[in-house]
Amino acid sequence: MKDTPTPEAKSAEPGRNDFVTFENIGKRFGRQVVLNDLCFSVGAGERVTLIGPSGSGKTTILRMLMTLVRPDSGVIRIGGEPLYQEMRGGRLVPASEKHIRAMRGRITMVFQQFNLFPNMRVLRNVTEAPIRVHGVPKAEAEERAASLLELVGLRDKLDAYPSQLSGGQQQRVAIARALAVRPDILLLDEVTSALDPEIAAEVLDVLREVARTTDVTMLCVTHAMRFARDVSNRVLMFSDGGIVESGPPEQIFGDPQHDRTRRFLKSVLEEA
Ligand SMILES: Nc1ncnc2c1ncn2[C@@H]1O[C@H](COP(=O)(O)OP(=O)(O)OP(=O)(O)O)[C@@H](O)[C@H]1O
Ligand SMILES: [Mg+2]
Repeated sequence: MKDTPTPEAKSAEPGRNDFVTFENIGKRFGRQVVLNDLCFSVGAGERVTLIGPSGSGKTTILRMLMTLVRPDSGVIRIGGEPLYQEMRGGRLVPASEKHIRAMRGRITMVFQQFNLFPNMRVLRNVTEAPIRVHGVPKAEAEERAASLLELVGLRDKLDAYPSQLSGGQQQRVAIARALAVRPDILLLDEVTSALDPEIAAEVLDVLREVARTTDVTMLCVTHAMRFARDVSNRVLMFSDGGIVESGPPEQIFGDPQHDRTRRFLKSVLEEA
């Protein structure tokens, strides 16, 4: 099940159409095979949406990139460098914790349930990782946090605690926090599915702005099809351990080729 790199990536540099690659990735939980010999790649700056039925492995793929779940087989590369292995003496060997930590520093994820630090004010939620993990000076981290909170429309909430914010506001803080470390890769896992439709629309507008104003590579799991259509260069449809179909959003949503995709899209539309 090969999936060819996209030629239409919005800001991919020439020769960097394989910025993130999954090479023959296998993953099972107990006797359940979740991913089977999965191959795909994502260009630098490309925006890819992952769709597919519940249990098809979408979150597992994002969690593998966050180094929260290890693949059983295969190689994941970021910028050509293996994530879970490193070269030693001309051979690929399991990576040290140090290597994995360094690679993970380039990737951030926003979750369905926000996961803000409840005991920290908004500003500190956003500055914590840059200061503690990346060694950014406090003043510089705070300046960047303020401009990111401006981007997500929360400049006036710097001193609030997460519990004093609505769900949509918390999610916008989570987006600012994810961008604060200047990630190469932003992972979004159903970030609006816990929100009311109106609030979800505000969060999606923020993400449209992020897509418009940054060149971060985005892998996004979402049921918000209009958003996916607007923002993504390519849609990957997952089922039965792999990608059954992929292409530009106009094609996947407008003229899906596989019956599995048609059935899935029909069920999502009926739910909406
Ligand atoms: N830590 C785990 N232990 C056991 N099974 C797991 C674990 N994580 C995921 N699974 C199983 O792997 C399969 C894929 O899970 P995953 O969360 O990736 O699906 P998904 O496509 O994100 O689904 P959804 O759309 O419901 O979020 C599911 O059947 C799930 O139960
Ligand atoms: Mg999931």
